[in-house]
Amino acid sequence: MIDSIELTNWKTHRHTVMNFQSGVNVLIGVMGAGKSSVMDAVSFGLFGTFPALSHRRTTIENIISSRPSREDSSEVRLQFGADGDTYTITRCISRGGGTTARLEKNGSYLQAQPERVNEEIEHLLKVDYDTFSRVIYSEQNRLAYFLELAKGERKKQIDHMLGLDSFAKAEENSVSLINSMRSLILDEEKMLAGIDVNELKKQLAGLATQK
Ligand SMILES: Nc1ncnc2c1ncn2[C@@H]1O[C@H](COP(=O)(O)OP(=O)(O)O)[C@@H](O)[C@H]1O
Ligand SMILES: [Mg+2]
Repeated sequence: MIDSIELTNWKTHRHTVMNFQSGVNVLIGVMGAGKSSVMDAVSFGLFGTFPALSHRRTTIENIISSRPSREDSSEVRLQFGADGDTYTITRCISRGGGTTARLEKNGSYLQAQPERVNEEIEHLLKVDYDTFSRVIYSEQNRLAYFLELAKGERKKQIDHMLGLDSFAKAEENSVSLINSMRSLILDEEKMLAGIDVNELKKQLAGLATQK
């Protein structure tokens, strides 16, 4: 469970600390207050990216607060519990300077290589970014989109979302593989049926005497 998140210079959040409770947590605020930005920060904290960023609808630098003053860097600190331990991830973005990551376990340093931090999180949460962004994190308006789909199309989209379509594809492929093996076997059988064993034996005997 995510215990808390701390945002510094993250869009509208100059400095925001949120402590979450178990159960449902609701963010209330006027349009543009920065609610969706908190969801993006949760995703970014955990996996180093979020849907608008991974789909290139925004850039990492757009996140750093530019109003009321232009800041040089922003930071997300996220604390969560897993298997009885407390983990803290800190990710920093700086203008032109890329991002850094740091993972701590029960207050002790664990990892600071962004790729390795991501791997560690995937391992701890038993979910990768792909699944997280498809199944757990739902962007605004995506739910309504699902409800408005026709039944068959909805199933297709949900299969795709859960990555189940790859199994359907594998099933399709294995059926066509079985069919082509069957037709190969039939061809072989036909060829074998056409062979006259006695005739072959005679030919062999003939060859043996010639020798
Ligand atoms: N780099 C930035 N610096 C400061 N404010 C920003 C920056 N980028 C976007 N914003 C502001 O963030 C707000 C959008 O936040 P968002 O989380 O989508 O709001 P909500 O979901 O609460 O409607 C807008 O008001 C926008 O002007
Ligand atoms: Mg929003």
